[in-house]
Amino acid sequence: MQVVALVNQKGGSGKSTLVACLAVAAREAGERVFIIDMDPQKSLVKWGHQRNDRNMPVEAVSPAKLESALAALTRARVTLVIVDTPATDSPAADAAMRCADLCVIPARPTIFDIWSSEATRGKLKTLSKEYAFVLNQCPAMQESQRVSDGAAALETMGGLLRPLVGARVDYQEAARAGMGVTEVDPDGKAAEEMRQLWTSLKRRLNRKGTQKAA
Ligand SMILES: Nc1ncnc2c1ncn2[C@@H]1O[C@H](COP(=O)(O)OP(=O)(O)OP(=O)(O)O)[C@@H](O)[C@H]1O
Ligand SMILES: [Mg+2]
Repeated sequence: MQVVALVNQKGGSGKSTLVACLAVAAREAGERVFIIDMDPQKSLVKWGHQRNDRNMPVEAVSPAKLESALAALTRARVTLVIVDTPATDSPAADAAMRCADLCVIPARPTIFDIWSSEATRGKLKTLSKEYAFVLNQCPAMQESQRVSDGAAALETMGGLLRPLVGARVDYQEAARAGMGVTEVDPDGKAAEEMRQLWTSLKRRLNRKGTQKAA
């Protein structure tokens, strides 16, 4: 079983959105997925209620119970756990980081977001955890100087999962409907980028321990 935690102290960077959409893309690729929602806002728990799908269980878990929950999921032959965390330096984010095989840090392509993701990276370095960034909510003109500067900065800070994720209404529609973007419009651009992002993430997970936080 592999555990991925989406972390970033900066609010609104896209943690919950990407947890939902990656979970669905991974499920479609054959993983047995379980979502753990550690954010008191419970966005994913609400998304799960909306979805009402026993193949996509979502559960709120407290930091103290995370390890035992993961042990139970291993026994239940879940292959992938994706953990959503709150946008704070909290015991929940801490516990998720410690238990994760890989931490994914979504960041928007603005300088404030990139600076604040550095705090999260610092924490992961202290914990000697593996991490990779995802640049989320990129404007349609992906090759703008701002976006390519952001991508370069994140590459330097420890690696960027490709592709860049666009700002697209499908992500907002998916959240509203309890779906992933691969279900909202399977032939759309958002669906294609989520399938590719899952492939990159899976490849990174399988490269066990080759790039520890520097
Ligand atoms: N790629 C995207 N395209 C369009 N909208 C997006 C995208 N990613 C996220 N959003 C929107 O941005 C907002 C913040 O996203 P989300 O709630 O996933 O962030 P978060 O990091 O979980 O926030 P918080 O830290 O408050 O939990 C939401 O309204 C979401 O619909
Ligand atoms: Mg959230």
